[in-house]
Amino acid sequence: MANKWWQETVVYQIYPRSFMDSGGDGIGDLKGVTQRLEYLHELGVGAIWMNPICDSPNDDNGYDIRDYTRIMREYGSMDDFDALVEKAHALGIRVVMDMVINHTSDEHAWFVESRGGKDSPKHDFYIWRDGTGSGPPNNWGSFFSPSAWKYDEQRGQYYLHLFSEKQPDLNWESPALRGEIYDMMNWWRQKGVDGFRLDAINAIKKPKGLPDSKEKPTYALGTTLDPALYMNNPGLEGFFREMNRRVFSKGDMLTVGECSQTTPAHAAKYASLKGDMLSMLIHFDAVSLRDKWSVKAMRKVQQRWYDDTWGIAWAAQYLSNHDQPRQVSIYGDDGKYHQASAKLLATMLHTLPGTPFVYQGEELGMTNIRMRRVNDYQDISAHNDYHRMRGTGHSRRKAMAWLNRYGRDNARTPMQWDNTANAGFTTGAPWLKVNPNYQRINAAQQIGDPDSVFNYYRKLIALRKQHSVMIYGDYADISPGQKNVYMYTRSDDTQTWMVVLNFSGKRTVVRVASDIDLSRVVLTNDAKAAHTAGRIVCPPWYAAIFKVR
Ligand code: GLC
Repeated sequence: MANKWWQETVVYQIYPRSFMDSGGDGIGDLKGVTQRLEYLHELGVGAIWMNPICDSPNDDNGYDIRDYTRIMREYGSMDDFDALVEKAHALGIRVVMDMVINHTSDEHAWFVESRGGKDSPKHDFYIWRDGTGSGPPNNWGSFFSPSAWKYDEQRGQYYLHLFSEKQPDLNWESPALRGEIYDMMNWWRQKGVDGFRLDAINAIKKPKGLPDSKEKPTYALGTTLDPALYMNNPGLEGFFREMNRRVFSKGDMLTVGECSQTTPAHAAKYASLKGDMLSMLIHFDAVSLRDKWSVKAMRKVQQRWYDDTWGIAWAAQYLSNHDQPRQVSIYGDDGKYHQASAKLLATMLHTLPGTPFVYQGEELGMTNIRMRRVNDYQDISAHNDYHRMRGTGHSRRKAMAWLNRYGRDNARTPMQWDNTANAGFTTGAPWLKVNPNYQRINAAQQIGDPDSVFNYYRKLIALRKQHSVMIYGDYADISPGQKNVYMYTRSDDTQTWMVVLNFSGKRTVVRVASDIDLSRVVLTNDAKAAHTAGRIVCPPWYAAIFKVR
């Protein structure tokens, strides 16, 4: 397959609610995104993925869509969207839409009609079942509530919701439903969008017969959250192929599937470079190391994906997004070595195989936020996690500590533009607390500082445009014995780059072949590091790229 633009680009993820508020209501909007496109152009990214912007009652911040063809009121109008796309394209930035098609809002017209009764033409657009005895059809737990089933008085049946009660799952077995979805996606394609990020897409095929989970209960109620049972079911590939044939193949699109529970073997099919399904996957193997992170574990993940998918399929590289905590707070050091470790993580994500996805604020080294009360969290998932933990015997302190470390709102705090009130995000009252460290960590300060995290990202992104070895070069792990140093090479016919990453606050010396010329540094977060032949002296959180051939 010929090289594709989406392999070579860097994707920047915008959480519109928290990016830039142009209207003063405390909620980010599309005009705000448009105002800040020059900033992204300066950073050098080639595509933006915006979290859902369609009309929604916002039970899950837009992941509950009420109308796929209207813009969420808080975010503006369709004219604002068209203006955004026009300006982005003029700046050479492609636009990727978040497509939430595993479920809709319960306020979507389809659901309103479907719950109306078994005679409705949309009766089978959702997954309706009778209960068993006095309880729900099976023991499935949902990601956001103890049961994945809700009884609907009007229809007299239960409907399935893998996420919140206000996010009923669509029934992909219905050809009529699939037709509606493809028409809707084509409508967006014709409006000029360059791709889709497909939300929870490997859950659209449910297991035959919806069997009970055999895993032990997750919730006090006795229900089990068993994602492995909900994802990657036989028949899923058929849906992907059909989607590709009826929508994606009609344009040169980036289609990236959010696929938890996915192994390289799945990826080899879903995101095959043959191009008959999706372009690439967002898998969870790296981020699921977050509470047991080690260089060794990360190396293992990267090796496995490389061995089993290189030349066969494609994936995103990321550690942050709107569902994950801030990467520098988890895998780096958001205290003493904040800058160095933020740059180290950036170096890794831009030099490993795959397309880098940068989550808003990551390019500034934005950090987790400390919330004191559970009600400071706006995220539906945070409240569910809190109650699940409390319900299963954890103390309040423990539950809050968990949320402060892993809660999704850590990543959703408003973008830190400058050191004025509310970090320059809004003139109103922000919908979610601004991280108080905005005085120190903000874009305005970093743009002008040649040593900033922002300017480091800018350099990495520019390098990727100039050196295809970063994209297509073969990968080889050459990590030495130390447990904290990750080292690898990327090589093509003409050159070899060596990446050195010291994941620790300790100075560490690494031995390499003495004929390697260590003066040819492509980029580093510490130009003062002094090496001698055969010895790389890594300061704390040192990151460097050497050209070794
Ligand atoms: C995906 C989204 C997440 C959302 C969920 C339900 O995992 O990334 O934010 O809550 O799907 O749509």
